[in-house]
Amino acid sequence: NRPKIAVVGSLNMDLVVSMERMPLTGETVQGRAFQTVPGGKGANQAAGCGRLGAAVEMIGAAGEDAFGGELVRSLQGFGVTTEGVSRIAGVSSGVATIYHTEDDNCIVVVPGANASCTAELVEAHADRIRSADLLLVQLEVPLPAVKRALELARGSGVITVLNPAPARELPAELVALADYITPNETEFELLTGGAAGTEAELAARMRSWQEATGCRVLVTRGSRGCSFLREDGELATVPALKVEPVDTTGAGDTLNAALGVSLAAGVPLEEAVSFAVRAASLSVTKFGAQGGLPTLAEVRATYKG
Ligand code: RIB
Ligand code: NA
Repeated sequence: NRPKIAVVGSLNMDLVVSMERMPLTGETVQGRAFQTVPGGKGANQAAGCGRLGAAVEMIGAAGEDAFGGELVRSLQGFGVTTEGVSRIAGVSSGVATIYHTEDDNCIVVVPGANASCTAELVEAHADRIRSADLLLVQLEVPLPAVKRALELARGSGVITVLNPAPARELPAELVALADYITPNETEFELLTGGAAGTEAELAARMRSWQEATGCRVLVTRGSRGCSFLREDGELATVPALKVEPVDTTGAGDTLNAALGVSLAAGVPLEEAVSFAVRAASLSVTKFGAQGGLPTLAEVRATYKG
């Protein structure tokens, strides 16, 4: 019983400049390397699910340019079905320019063809969503597409996970369509309109937001791991594994992919979070958003240490 995952989201070519430290505004620094690697939050999460052994349907849009071809082939290499990816003539594929240091990044995303991922495009692939166990969506494609995908999934009893990245404010009715929402700390503050502060404040904010939205909240916290509320309302935080970072790009995508695969397989939340944090920790030890996606065996091996 291979979990079936549908992903509606972006595909980007990542144009990565690696450097010792970030430049300040107006400053010029020497870069170490330039590489183009497949990325995009949607594609990264789809690839992550494929790498963990799930059956994955990707729905989105890429250009008819050379990058588009590479992005689709990369997904196929992870075993992802790409019939739901439209190729759009006359626009560039999405690109993300990334300043990369070992433990940090700065990203500018140009949506390009991702803007053509419309509600109509999603509708055309409704069956791919309805037949999944779980749907993963992010915010790098237009909101109407995200909303339509969530509605289709809800209507068919498909579990829905909303990764609200990159950060933006969201209409309450969209959030209410998600079973799980996975903001990082910055995204959570923007969504709930204020700083979380202490652990107790974070827990209180998570509790009230969870009550207001009816949606289970998981806050991802970088090297601190991931926090969620137990059934009794107590805050639980699963710490990240201690690793030597090489590239943190895509760590959040890896976490969402691993969480999605586990929840789709019926794993209880606490175990699913632990699995997801381990997968994300492993991903930062390798270069590239899709370069560090771990296999099931690799994640399982971390429990033995
Ligand atoms: O989450 C990481 C991704 O965000 C990168 O692959 C880049 O494409 C940006 O969209
Ligand atoms: Na990585």
